[in-house]
Parts: sequence; C-alpha cells; structure tokens
Amino acid sequence: MSDEEMYLHYHGLLLPKETHSLESLKFVQEFTFEDEDVVTVTYPKSGTAWMQEILPLLLNDGDLTPIQTIPNWDRAPWLEEKRLAVVVDQLKSPRALVTHFPYRLMPHSFHASKAKVIYVMRNPMDVMVSSYYFHQMAAFLQDPGTFEEFMDKFLEGRVLFGKWTDHVKGWRHTDLGDRIMYITYEEMVQDLPAALRRMSDFLGRKLSDEVIQKIAEHCSFKTMKTNNMSNFSLVPKIYMDSDKSPFLRKGVAGDWKNHFSSEQQAKFTSVIRKDLEKESFSLPWSLD
Ligand code: A3P
Repeated sequence: MSDEEMYLHYHGLLLPKETHSLESLKFVQEFTFEDEDVVTVTYPKSGTAWMQEILPLLLNDGDLTPIQTIPNWDRAPWLEEKRLAVVVDQLKSPRALVTHFPYRLMPHSFHASKAKVIYVMRNPMDVMVSSYYFHQMAAFLQDPGTFEEFMDKFLEGRVLFGKWTDHVKGWRHTDLGDRIMYITYEEMVQDLPAALRRMSDFLGRKLSDEVIQKIAEHCSFKTMKTNNMSNFSLVPKIYMDSDKSPFLRKGVAGDWKNHFSSEQQAKFTSVIRKDLEKESFSLPWSLD
C-alpha cells in the first residue's frame, strides 16, 4: 500500500488510518477536558504503553483491577484515536489519557482546564530503533525499508507525528506552568520506584512506599510482558505480528549502540543538535 492509502495528513503530521480518522480528529477538538484529567504526552515509542500501566495504578492507589481487566488502549485511551469516542463514557474520574499530539494541536478545552500533563521523553536514537522494529511488526504502518532509509525519514520528520525535535520543543515551551512535569524514559528505567514517587507527588497522591513498590513490580518490563491486557497479544496477528518483533521488545536504554554505525551516529546527532540549536534546549543524555 502507498503512503497515501495508509496515512492521513493532518496539520503536517502523518497518522495511520487504521487508528485515526477525520472524525476522531474532530472528536478531539470538541473533547471536553476535566480538571482531574491526567494526560501522558509522548512522541511515539517513548514509553506510552508503560504509562498506560503506570497512570491507572497511581490514580487508584495501586488497585490492580484496571490493568488486569481492561486493555491498555481502553483504560488510558489515545486522545486522537478512533477508540476514544467508544470508551469515553466508561472512563472513571480521574481519567487517564495519552496522546502523541504536538502542543499546538491540543484542543481548546485542554487549555481552559487544569488537567495535568506528564511528558515522557526518550533518547531519540532509541526511539528510532524502537520505531524501526515497530514498523516491521505493525501491518498498518509502512515497511520501514533499510535502517539507513528509515533514519533519513525520521530525521526529516517524514514519520508518524512528525519530527521528534518539533515534538519535544513544542512541549517544552508551553504556558502550562506547574500543570506539566517532565520525565525521561531513561530515568524510569534506571529507578522506577523513584520515578513513580516523583509522578505521584506531582499528581498529589499520597502513596506509601509499599504501594509504590507494588506498582513498580507490576509495571516492570518482565511483568508487563506477561500481562495480556498490556502486551498487545489481544491484537490479531494480521495487525501486529509479534513473531516479527514483540511490542514489548527490549525495554532498555541504549539499544541504539547495537544498531548505529559511528557514521550514522555522527549524522544523526548533528541533525538533532542543529534542530535544537536555536532553542535553549539541553538534552538530558549525551548523544555520543
Ligand atoms: P523498545 O522497542 O525499545 O523495547 P510506546 O509504548 O510509546 O510505543 O513505546 C514502546 C517502547 O517502550 C518499547 O521500547 C517498549 O519495550 C518500551 N516499554 C514498554 N513498557 C516498558 C517497561 N515496563 N519497561 C521498559 N520499557 C518499556
């Protein structure tokens, strides 16, 4: 299938038609945010599914029922996807949502509300590697081609949700004040209980160390891989083929080192640095 058949073009972004439609995009613009809503924002492949596990637990005092009985796409739905309209009435307050939208496309009611945002950022080299494998296993996405070809597309922003640098920059310069917190995937990998504590404090939840520990165990890569509500095994193989690459693939920081040649790394980092140059934007990791 051609790009045109597979993707919608929306305000300069490419979105898969399998999960997005003009109706779903209109639905977002008319969506009413509530003050209690919590939305996780990510560029694709930065830990969205992980947050779909974490948020319901943080918001429900570690109650495992949601993560054991509701698929992740229904318990913390994507704002921009078709599924939201189907499940929105079943969501209990405080609602957990996720989105890959850039800041500039957030609906009016979001700005008018006090909804909180957790922005998760991941090293773009690992994002690209994860995305490369995801494009191989997801039938509703274009074949990524060679690693080199996919890298060029990624750096030019000819990929889902546009350029990585635009996404992170847009969400860094907001007028959300203390409604937004930033965390990195790497911080979560390094010390999940500490990351959970930081998030629960931000959300004003008073969770005991025991509950934090319990949440950390249930959100570990190992446990999530065995949770059928979270490992995408409910998705028919014709859409996502885990034999080609599992959705929960490696779950580590730094897998890029196994994929990038030194020339590719030099090219990648120089483009990313150039894109970020004019902003006072410092990255939390070294790209070398
Ligand atoms: P890898 O492909 O590098 O393994 P998203 O949900 O935004 O699409 O991101 C998917 C990435 O997050 C995948 O990265 C996936 O393995 C990783 N991930 C999901 N749950 C995780 C967990 N509990 N711990 C670590 N990484 C996790």
